[in-house]
Parts: sequence; structure tokens; C-alpha cells
Amino acid sequence: MTRDLNMDFSKKVVINTNTVEWAASPLAGVQRRMLDRDGAESGRATSIVRFDPGSYFTPHVHGGGEEFIVLDGVFSDEHGDFPPGTYVRNPVGSEHQPSSKQGCTIFVKLWQMDETDQDFVRIDTGSKPWAPGLVEGLSVMPLHQFGTEHVALVNWQPGTVFQRHAHMGGEEILVLEGTFEDEHGSYPKGTWIRSPSGSTHKPFSREGCTIYVKTGHL
Ligand SMILES: [Fe+2]
Ligand SMILES: [Fe+2]
Repeated sequence: MTRDLNMDFSKKVVINTNTVEWAASPLAGVQRRMLDRDGAESGRATSIVRFDPGSYFTPHVHGGGEEFIVLDGVFSDEHGDFPPGTYVRNPVGSEHQPSSKQGCTIFVKLWQMDETDQDFVRIDTGSKPWAPGLVEGLSVMPLHQFGTEHVALVNWQPGTVFQRHAHMGGEEILVLEGTFEDEHGSYPKGTWIRSPSGSTHKPFSREGCTIYVKTGHL
């Protein structure tokens, strides 16, 4: 029986995912670090999932949609082979059979998609161009937008300082490279930060960083 984990979206959560124990999944060769999840095995969840080399996942339908970014290794399914930095959205009702020849690690969000958001998204973030951000030193790569939800990668050059801002609809960040910071703390690569709707901060990065950011979904 799995209990709810970090499902109160009015609370801020900061987790250095590198320090979370790997937990066995129902499938051999597939382990996960749970970040948030509701109690049911097939329910809403945000996790880091690791596929051992040569592992196969059972074919499945995405009842609530699946969104992920490949952190390392190569994730494969019948639609293609996805190297590190690939951003994927499989909409509600889609299906596939994942596998990984060499092994891989992904950051994945399940059961968090609007069923009318039917876009299949595959973006190689390693080759997509960056757009200038709101302040000097900041670059943005929009990945997806639906309703109030926005997903992007944001790159911070060393020494970049952003203005204080409020998160309407919340903000979720995964630090992909470097160290992200704000007045509350310093967040190295692998840190997951979920900030509730209405929260504020003034972020910056002394050494530079690249972050995955989702807003407007909480
Ligand atoms: Fe899937
Ligand atoms: Fe923010």
C-alpha cells in the first residue's frame, strides 16, 4: 500500500533528488525516485526513473498522459530513440512500449495532462535554438503551452540575476546543469523545487545553470 507523497500543492517542496533512495518498480530493471505521487500505483506521480541496460517496460496506454525529459542514456520506444535532453509528451490515450538498450534515466510526470491537450511532442533540446529571456544572461527554450501551463528550459549565464516575481498557478523546477539559487537557498544539479501558487522569490545563478521550468499547473 503506497501512501500519498507531497500531494499538498499549497506546500513548498525542495528535494535534492540525488539523495533519494531508488525504489523498485513493479518491473524488473526499472527503479524510481518518487518526488510526488498519490497513493494509487497507476495515479498521478512525478518521479526520476532509471532503466537498467536492456530493460523493457510493458506496453501501456497513458490514461492521464505522460511527460518526460531524458536526463542521461537513451530512452527508446516504437516511435524512436531519444538521447539526453529529449523532451517528450505522450497525450491521454496514447500508447507505447518503452525500452532502453544502454540504460537511461528520465524525469517523468504521469496523469497530469488535460485530455484535450492531444499534442505529441518530441523536442531535441540539444539542437533547438534558444530565445533571449527577460534579463541579460537569460535564455529561454519554450517546450509546451496549454491553458495556463507553460513548460520551458531556461539557461542562466554565470552571474545572471532575475527580478522578484510571484508564481500564479505555481512553479516546478528541475535543475539540469549547474546551480540555481534564490534568497531561500542554493540548488545544485538534480534538485527539484515545487513552489505553490502565490509564492514569490528572486532567483539568480552565480555559476550558471540550465533548468526545466513548468508554471501555471498547480
Ligand atoms: Fe509511457
Ligand atoms: Fe520563479
